[in-house]
Amino acid sequence: MKRNVIVGQSGGPTAAINSSLAGVYRTAKDRGADKVYGMLHGVQGLLEEKYIDLSDHIKTELDAELLKRTPAAFLGSCRYKLPEIHEDREVYDKIFAILDKLDIEAFIYIGGNDSMDTIKKLSDYAIITGHPTRFVGCPKTIDNDLALTDHTPGYGSAAKYIGTSMKEIIRDGFCLEYSKGLVTIVEIMGRNAGWLTGAAALAQGEDCEGPDMIYLPEHSFDLVKFRDKVQQILDKKTSVVVAVSEGIRTEDGNYVCELGNSVDFVDAFGHKQLSGTAAYLANYIAGELGCKTRAIELSTLQRSASHAASRVDILEAYQVGGAAVKAADEGDSGKMVVLQRLSDDPYQCGTEVKDVHKIANDEKLVPPEWVTKDGTYVTSDFISYVRPLIQGDVSPVMVDGIPRHLYTPRELSERRRD
Ligand code: F6P
Repeated sequence: MKRNVIVGQSGGPTAAINSSLAGVYRTAKDRGADKVYGMLHGVQGLLEEKYIDLSDHIKTELDAELLKRTPAAFLGSCRYKLPEIHEDREVYDKIFAILDKLDIEAFIYIGGNDSMDTIKKLSDYAIITGHPTRFVGCPKTIDNDLALTDHTPGYGSAAKYIGTSMKEIIRDGFCLEYSKGLVTIVEIMGRNAGWLTGAAALAQGEDCEGPDMIYLPEHSFDLVKFRDKVQQILDKKTSVVVAVSEGIRTEDGNYVCELGNSVDFVDAFGHKQLSGTAAYLANYIAGELGCKTRAIELSTLQRSASHAASRVDILEAYQVGGAAVKAADEGDSGKMVVLQRLSDDPYQCGTEVKDVHKIANDEKLVPPEWVTKDGTYVTSDFISYVRPLIQGDVSPVMVDGIPRHLYTPRELSERRRD
């Protein structure tokens, strides 16, 4: 590499996203890049010329190790949708002028399906205008819904946290006596894909039966059948634990979370904010069955729990960051790095690059055959798929009993302003 690299983070953060950033930085430097810039808040920040020189933040090997263990997007993220090229060329001209000013050879974007839309459009624009900058996507999302890749970095750590938390919640449910029993509903992220919710089944093992039911968004949800099933289980045991996706919908297509208080926020990609499914169902069951209920929304915790990250996930996140730089350095553009599983036992996985046009804006859902016939649990194939991705631990760097992270540029600047 002879010139500079710029990297951005976009979409919902994960516990592994900064490991990819560390992989991009290290590989770019090793391949001879002069400067490695970081866009602050993705392409949205770039348009306002907000960026940093990563060397000012990653000064030592310890900084790099802390970065790998720091959750949430170190550079700051965005949910910014570029206009179609024919709609507004000015935005593109502005971005490319900034890239020229910074002498950028490779543009790496760490993100999910919406973020790959940015790589797709920018690489198309570079072709139209004959611009030499190369654009490569680096996969990331806890939702695990990116097409053409076996899985996405960020998913394994979130799945590990979910499996672990479910197990702890199940244990807690058995310790107190309630006259009509206890029903705990645990709401899990993932929008329209059930990969994360299915990971609740990882709680199952020799010392735990796992959750009683798991509802993925790929299957329509019937409130009355749900109530009856809960009652049947309550007739046999004192505590019922149910994992539900934030994105479950009734047969007529309405999100269950919208049955209660309506949710108004919609992002630039048209995604509604999904929240409140567990609260709605817990209220519904309490009203219908008169038992004690509890609603738990794992929310931010499931994507920021770097203290419980999967070693496989953190290593793969680093690897895909490096692979994205390598691909750009070797001439690829309009591509995304994918993970290719070579074997389950022993687990082996490699990287390849695939056309981003076949990935952007698409959603990979849980295959129907990986869900039980009645739609209330995942199959053993699902569990075998996810199990290798949660293996191993990454010890946090503990200071005074609390994990140490790397201060983000935004925190540093806001702190200085005080
Ligand atoms: O896209 C990842 C994700 O974590 C989804 O699972 C979730 O629905 C969404 O982001 C939440 O986004 P936000 O943090 O913007 O509310």
